[in-house]
Amino acid sequence: MDLNTNLRKLRYLLSCGALIAALPNTALLRAAVSTTSVCVQCHQKLNPNIVADWSISRHCELQVGCEDCHGDGHQSTNDVAKVKIPTPDTCGECHEFQVK
Ligand code: HEC
Ligand code: HEC
Ligand code: HEC
Repeated sequence: MDLNTNLRKLRYLLSCGALIAALPNTALLRAAVSTTSVCVQCHQKLNPNIVADWSISRHCELQVGCEDCHGDGHQSTNDVAKVKIPTPDTCGECHEFQVK
């Protein structure tokens, strides 16, 4: 298992479920490992319900992060225009079901 795989696992251990509450206190780890954790840090204030829903989802559990659906182009308040809004094709990268 390479370093990236380990970091990816660590990032989700830090962000799924109940542990999400501890996230703001782990700034160094967060900065080192996680795109999703960057999103979570800001969006748990802006959209607590979205973050909470994701954190208990099968997506979170199976390491599908925010950036898997929204891309990683937007990561701060200055670049919101670069966010990707998922289309059925986005879901179709992993799913065969039809999404309307
Ligand atoms: C430092 C704060 C910050 C970070 C970090 C951040 N965002 Fe955002 N995000 C914002 C703000 C501010 C908006 C605009 C909110 C609004 O207009 O109501 C926004 C909007 C969005 C939207 C909605 C865009 C729309 O058109 O409705 C999505 C989706 C989003 N962010 C996803 C992400 C993802 C994914 C990440 C991580 C890769 C991320 N954000 C990181 C602050 C942040
Ligand atoms: C499985 C794909 C998926 C994942 C993972 C995901 N989202 Fe989303 N997100 C969506 C979809 C679909 C929408 C609805 C887009 C629309 O309005 O058409 C959305 C909408 C949003 C919005 C805009 C809500 C609004 O009402 O304007 C924000 C903000 C957002 N997501 C943030 C996040 C953050 C932060 C994460 C990670 C904690 C995340 N999303 C993870 C698919 C996803
Ligand atoms: C990066 C891959 C990926 C993307 C993109 C993705 N998903 Fe998923 N999704 C998964 C995986 C993996 C599972 C878990 C499948 C399982 O349980 O075996 C899952 C599970 C689900 C489930 C079942 C949830 C549950 O609780 O059992 C739904 C519904 C779903 N995805 C909808 C979506 C929608 C809608 C989108 C697009 C907005 C999307 N997914 C995008 C990988 C993805």
